[in-house]
Amino acid sequence: MPVTIVLGGQWGDEGKGKIIDALAKDADVVVRANGSANAGHTVVTDEGVFKFRLIPSGILHPGCICVIGAGVALDPATVLEEVQQLRDRGVPAQNLRISSRCHLIMPYHPLQDRLEEESRGADMIGTTQRGNGPCYADKASRRGIRVADILDPEYLHRRLEPVLREKNAFLSGVYGHPGLDPAEIAEQYAAFGEQLAPFVTETELLVQDAIDAGRNVIIEGAQAAMLDIDYGTYPFVTSSSPTAAGVCQGAGIAPTQVDRVIGVYKAYLTRVGAGAFPTELHEEPGDTLRERGAEFGTVTGRPRRTGWFDAVQARFTARLNGLTEIALTKFDILDGVDPVQLCTGYQVHGEAVGAPPALITDYDQVEPIMENVEGWPEGSSSATSRTAMPESARRYIERVEAEVGVPVTFIGVGQHRDQLIRDATPSQV
Ligand code: GDP
Ligand code: IMO
Ligand code: MG
Repeated sequence: MPVTIVLGGQWGDEGKGKIIDALAKDADVVVRANGSANAGHTVVTDEGVFKFRLIPSGILHPGCICVIGAGVALDPATVLEEVQQLRDRGVPAQNLRISSRCHLIMPYHPLQDRLEEESRGADMIGTTQRGNGPCYADKASRRGIRVADILDPEYLHRRLEPVLREKNAFLSGVYGHPGLDPAEIAEQYAAFGEQLAPFVTETELLVQDAIDAGRNVIIEGAQAAMLDIDYGTYPFVTSSSPTAAGVCQGAGIAPTQVDRVIGVYKAYLTRVGAGAFPTELHEEPGDTLRERGAEFGTVTGRPRRTGWFDAVQARFTARLNGLTEIALTKFDILDGVDPVQLCTGYQVHGEAVGAPPALITDYDQVEPIMENVEGWPEGSSSATSRTAMPESARRYIERVEAEVGVPVTFIGVGQHRDQLIRDATPSQV
């Protein structure tokens, strides 16, 4: 049985939740590997719309163990709220497991996130303000608090004292913000510890045991490769590694254990937050794509910026992640748009550039080279196979495959979990 990674290939919100839900039907374990409650992964079933922020998108399948891996920055209040919301809708969360090694979002993290954003002024990143960046920064500088720590109130208290001394000096010194009380936080987080305890385990071992037993394991990436802290449009990125390598680390598996890497790409492109976007549409059909695609942030409700599919970034992220397949989502949103365009190259001062630049200001000089593909007036949302799709729609998919160099094996043609074409191009699908 394979280990499959599902990750975002663009700037997030590609429809990873839907693809993971589809694969989870036949999976034994789904492991969310990175990010925090900055993510919003949507699954639409006959029971309605489910939006997952920390809980893996396989939770609707009763036979599937859903793991929050060590690479996730866990907001304890959010995960407990999600568990409750699921229970209220008749979905028991008894299959949820949380790594004892997860770092925790602490009360000072969202506060710091907001204050830092405000102080950036015009250079604001547009973070989700969930404390993601400050939490990963504390993890790297070894002042983080982990799930295991809050299960031992005495240790938690001891650990928080010096951390809060430093945080409070920073908050008041830099931002003139009143300090936080370590005893109060210790008490609050010890209470979270009690509530989380039934879910906490060494998930790394659980995942390895599942792989050893030949189980079907899905690794769920949050965010996306162009938001990666190393390879994204730095500094307009998130603070974890949503790449194939990064999610291996977050899930506690080795690269040699992975069989499939599915990159999820929208058939067009969106971005929420600030930063470069060479194919951005500032006029029609940008608004049409936003309205029809309901392109408003799952977490923050912010309108997403819209644009054309960018094969330069797609090729880059496909190579970085060793993709074996592409899931091309929201194809139906392009129905009736004519022509459909895609970007096949970048030009800087008349010279062709093969990959996204490292320096963010270099993007100001990028001129995307665009190609037109004839639109398809007929709808694609009722298609159940690739061959049943309109001819020009098939041609567009073939252009994406040719430009990115990876076969498209899933095509999303609607929001509902059933509106997904699985194309049997590679033998394992
Ligand atoms: P994720 O973060 O990658 O899981 O994606 P989000 O859930 O944030 O955003 C994707 C949005 O598109 C959600 O509202 C999904 O329900 C929706 N969606 C996913 N796939 C399709 C598709 O093929 N067609 C349409 N119309 N909507 C889709
Ligand atoms: P999913 O998993 C889209 C973006 C934010 C901001 C930048 C940094 O649903 O695809 P952060 O709060 O992480 O410090 O914000 O990253 N961002 C996302 N954009 N989808 C996401 O997650 C995102 N998670 C973070 O908008 O630009
Ligand atoms: Mg999302």
